[in-house]
Amino acid sequence: MDSRAIGVFDSGVGGLTVLKELQEQMKNENYIYIGDTANFPYGSKSKQTIIELCKKRIENLIELDVKLIVIACGTATSQALNEMKKIFNIPIIGIIQPTVEYLKEKKLKNIGVIATTGTIRSKGWQKEIEKEIIDARIESKACPLLAPMAEEGWVDNEIAKLTIHEYLKDIKDVDALILGCTHYPLFENIIQNELEKKVEIINTGKMVARKVKEYINANNISNEQNNISKTKIYLTDLECSFIEVAKKIMNNTNMQLNKIG
Ligand code: DGL
Repeated sequence: MDSRAIGVFDSGVGGLTVLKELQEQMKNENYIYIGDTANFPYGSKSKQTIIELCKKRIENLIELDVKLIVIACGTATSQALNEMKKIFNIPIIGIIQPTVEYLKEKKLKNIGVIATTGTIRSKGWQKEIEKEIIDARIESKACPLLAPMAEEGWVDNEIAKLTIHEYLKDIKDVDALILGCTHYPLFENIIQNELEKKVEIINTGKMVARKVKEYINANNISNEQNNISKTKIYLTDLECSFIEVAKKIMNNTNMQLNKIG
């Protein structure tokens, strides 16, 4: 039993797509979310910068006394998760491994991955998939404009449709498309319309929540103290459009933003 919160972070609003799944699958847990808005976007930064930023955000979350940390960001998972596990003595879960476990279970082999430039450059998804699914065929595409558009709330206009059309035109014959950046579920409808019906769109937040739940139960650290879950949101810079987009993702839940870092 452990009533401390689960810590979650991303560069901005994207990680809320993961937080939402966590809240849905673990209604009794408390959550602390950090959006590193002062340093958005992560997707175009170097590996070294991402490692430094992740270190700071994890230190913030540890100071806030969380029991487990979810890196709700593909860019940070692919470039910094291994380093963070070496530095910190707290359970840390990223978005790649839980998703690859799902692909394996479902025997999905023809896989598309769309993500930020940094994630695609790191080959983080490719390496992890090829380790687990020997005969996998992977098509990857960097979509650097999508996360900034999501941050602006441009998720259902003509520009979003044209941009996604352009990015996805080379992805053919896949059985599943991984949304390898946590901002991308905001475009899920447009993405689905662009692809053949049979292509399964994979929102990593669902897989992450399943993994966190499993971990918490296996280690006896679930919160059994109350059943009114609390979520606290911190941003490293309050001067941004976070709240408008966040409300859309979290179905207009009342939100108070706090400053950190
Ligand atoms: N949401 C992030 C990801 O999953 C980062 C987007 C960005 O900051 O560029 O990769």
